[in-house]
Amino acid sequence: MGVRSLTIGGLGVVLGLALSANADAAEQKLVNYTISKGAIATSLTGKPGDAAKGRELAIDRKKGNCLACHVMPIPEQPFHGEIGPDLNGVAGRLTEGEIRLRIVDPKNFNRDTIMPAFYKNTGFTRALKKFKGKPMLSAAQIEDLVAYTMTLK
Ligand code: HEC
Repeated sequence: MGVRSLTIGGLGVVLGLALSANADAAEQKLVNYTISKGAIATSLTGKPGDAAKGRELAIDRKKGNCLACHVMPIPEQPFHGEIGPDLNGVAGRLTEGEIRLRIVDPKNFNRDTIMPAFYKNTGFTRALKKFKGKPMLSAAQIEDLVAYTMTLK
């Protein structure tokens, strides 16, 4: 795969303006990122994420909800889904950049995957009205999840 740049469409910009009274407004506009060799090499925020916050997001049913599909080393949570691969040891199999792209937009690896794209604001087939044009998570939350996932050695 060659270098591909994703830019924000006009829709995101318009929504960003329309929602400028909202505290989350800065998050409506996706940051630009570059996909190269199946990875997003650099942090979406330019900073490393917080692994402890990432762990919370992975548990949170309304945020990452990673546990719904993945086994993870989070023993205090009784139910771990097994639809996706066990994430124990994933940081030994994949690089940080590969993990980042998988969380941002896993369709880059498998068009038919059921794993949601957590940082995308277009191309959803059945977006609820209140979620239209908004990514599921912010760039900072993606980085927190990347930081946590990188601890799964
Ligand atoms: C609806 C189910 C679902 C949810 C929710 C989900 N995933 Fe996944 N994930 C999958 C599936 C299925 C795969 C296997 C890849 C595929 O579908 O091609 C996968 C693959 C992955 C991989 C690559 C694993 C490997 O060994 O190659 C990573 C990393 C990952 N997911 C992280 C996450 C994180 C972090 C979250 C939470 C933010 C999450 N996933 C939420 C279903 C899910």
